[in-house]
Amino acid sequence: MPQIIKEDSVLGATINNIDLREPLDEDLKNFISKALADNEVIFFRDQDISPKQHKAFALNFGELQNHPVYPTVEGFPEITILENNKDNPSKIEKWHTDMTFKKIPPLGSILLGKVIPKEGGDTLFSSLSAAYNDLPEDIKESLEGKTAIHSFEHGFKESLAEPYGKERLSQALKDNPPVEHPVICTHPITKKRIIYVNSLFTLRINSLSDLESSELLEFLCKHIKKEKYQCRFSWEINSIAFWDNRSVIHKPDNNYWPQVRRMERITIDDTQSPF
Ligand SMILES: [Fe+2]
Repeated sequence: MPQIIKEDSVLGATINNIDLREPLDEDLKNFISKALADNEVIFFRDQDISPKQHKAFALNFGELQNHPVYPTVEGFPEITILENNKDNPSKIEKWHTDMTFKKIPPLGSILLGKVIPKEGGDTLFSSLSAAYNDLPEDIKESLEGKTAIHSFEHGFKESLAEPYGKERLSQALKDNPPVEHPVICTHPITKKRIIYVNSLFTLRINSLSDLESSELLEFLCKHIKKEKYQCRFSWEINSIAFWDNRSVIHKPDNNYWPQVRRMERITIDDTQSPF
């Protein structure tokens, strides 16, 4: 029987006694889905899985996405390679929810560690439900009904400013016009309320002046990344982190550069927009 060991924080749990090379039966699939929703991010250790097994595992939870920008594993367009090294330092510095610039952002991602630096390179996760619960009641009330604009162009502005950046990203830019999401959403399974903005892709909060919007966004983005809502995952080769993209923000700790860090990620489609 698989065993859940909760992290010493408001989110996160490690699932032991499970071999992800094997297909999941219905019970196991439900067990993992529930563990994911309840803990917001789940971890596995020592899972020496092939790209085919990675894909088969991910398909238990939904349809798989192809990322508009990143390179992929040969023969597996749904497996994104995230590799950083001496010549290619990680540019992801900001806390974020993945791809909120889409009308239906992903349900979650399954990230597999392939080359892990000797030191550093942890991934940090922060709970958007714990952050919501902790808000003063008057602020909770003032956020009800508010919506925000999320933008690919805003999130990729540094890449766009690079030489040939506009040319390289022109199709992705066309395919991803700005979208609107509620500022406070409800998790579709746990029904927990979450703060659904992030400093990478959220451009502005509607129905406020520019100044009010930027002040409120700054307050919320600072609030959701407070250390008391976080957990930190230290990678080993063949570790897996599977996060619920509807209830956490995350970011890598880029303190490993210039060491190599190579991860393989599959992103799972959701079936409904945040509500
Ligand atoms: Fe991400």
